[in-house]
Amino acid sequence: MDSSFFSQVDLCQLMRPRKVCVCNQVSEEEIVSSIKSGHDTLEKLMNDTGASTGCGTCMGSVRKLLVRELNVPKA
Ligand code: FES
Repeated sequence: MDSSFFSQVDLCQLMRPRKVCVCNQVSEEEIVSSIKSGHDTLEKLMNDTGASTGCGTCMGSVRKLLVRELNVPKA
């Protein structure tokens, strides 16, 4: 592949962890780390990471990560 295929900005975007919360620039890695350090409710995660404290669009994704990491059975 030609190295000019990606601009420098595109490469930086690809190399960064995906942001779950765009408003507060919180990555999946940060959310998982917070859960593993004991923030086991949505409120605790919000207070610790800032995720879902802006527009709220990411709340469903944050909840999914919480359920996944805590191995909560689906209802
Ligand atoms: S994207 Fe997370 S609060 Fe807006």
